[in-house]
Amino acid sequence: MNNFIFENTTKVYFGAGCVKEYLACLVKGYGDNVMLAYGRGSVKKNGIYDEVTDILKAAGKNIIEFSGIMANPTYAKVLEGAKLAKEQNVSLILGVGGGSVMDCCKAVSIAARYEGDVWADFWARPGIFAFDPLPLGVIVTAAGTGSECNGGAVITNEEFKVKTGRDYPKCNPKFALLDPEYTYSVPEFQMVSGGFDILSHIMEIYFSEPDGDNVSDDIAEALMKNVIRNLRAAIANPQDYTARSNLMWDAVMAENRIIKLGKRTDFECHQMEHQLGAYIDCNHGAGLAVLQPVYYRHIYKNGLAKFKRFAVNIWGISPDGKTDEEIAGSGVEALADFIREIGLPATLRELGADTDTDLKMIADSCTIVPGSYKKMTHEEILGIFKECL
Ligand code: NZQ
Ligand code: ZN
Repeated sequence: MNNFIFENTTKVYFGAGCVKEYLACLVKGYGDNVMLAYGRGSVKKNGIYDEVTDILKAAGKNIIEFSGIMANPTYAKVLEGAKLAKEQNVSLILGVGGGSVMDCCKAVSIAARYEGDVWADFWARPGIFAFDPLPLGVIVTAAGTGSECNGGAVITNEEFKVKTGRDYPKCNPKFALLDPEYTYSVPEFQMVSGGFDILSHIMEIYFSEPDGDNVSDDIAEALMKNVIRNLRAAIANPQDYTARSNLMWDAVMAENRIIKLGKRTDFECHQMEHQLGAYIDCNHGAGLAVLQPVYYRHIYKNGLAKFKRFAVNIWGISPDGKTDEEIAGSGVEALADFIREIGLPATLRELGADTDTDLKMIADSCTIVPGSYKKMTHEEILGIFKECL
């Protein structure tokens, strides 16, 4: 394993009823003005908004609403939230939603306490903290990104056509409330897309050096099998508490830094998807589902041992009578079959791209990461996009 330092400061409260049980106590330690941040209205339809506001009011808090956070949150929305937080002297941000709400809130927590150019100083390049961001607590309503247990915030700058993330330990939420029942109302497509995002995070870590015996790869295999099994169960029965709770915890385990320890990690596919998102505003998990099998067809021969292990251990492919390349390739095809089975798209056209989309411009804007088994070039990324169209 490679050397590492590990820290994760988010305190997690997990399980049915956890918001009712703990929220009032958790907000006590902060000032009176709580900024309640949420998305585009699902929390009002499923009753979560009423439950949370009742608790905040009973705790004597002034609620400052910051609503309308869009999927793929924009930098403009971050600045809107920061302005509100400053004007209203907010002492705690309470983000209620999925990854987009949580990411936007983390960026607001920095921007509310910083007078300079937040994009230039914290997203365009790694930032330096001479201050503490505004405290953030989150109530998770959709399983997927794992944003609830890390400092990562992926923001789209519409002006520069860049979607990018930074993971700042100082932005880890102070507390995260995870009630699996809150995810029952997530529409099937979003549930599946979030589920695939979890699988994708694990694969992005698993498919990277070192390939020798290490704890991370063994945990990653257990997590991948758990995601696959429970996603199938949640599709069969959206109110399956066991399935929903497993998926909710899988999301955290994939992105709470634990399985990244000692690994190089890849995340090239995430880089490609983020830039696609910057141009065509596609759904994150669905974008990954289109790209990942095609990307793996390009790189599996460079990471043959690990792709072979994936085929056998995750998909149960028999190695008998096959070459290493055939076994490894079968694992990638099993992944593509699973994506079809759960109803995610397989082409960029299904995400909204067409022949007018400037795939070259998008490919050229992608960051080339160091951790891939095969270092990409912008030409090869363009080739992948064209194969996906
Ligand atoms: O807008 P609302 O009303 O909240 O509706 C949302 C949205 O339409 C809906 N939803 C969420 N909970 C629901 C619900 N609908 C009904 N019932 C509920 N209980 O689901 C839709 C999608 O929500 P969103 O938050 O956008 O999805 P997700 O959690 O997949 O987050 C995606 C964002 O996170 C970023 C992605 O790039 C994307 O911008 N990521 C963040 C990461 C991180 N911070 O660590 C890592 C990821 O790789 C990812 O890049
Ligand atoms: Zn992701």
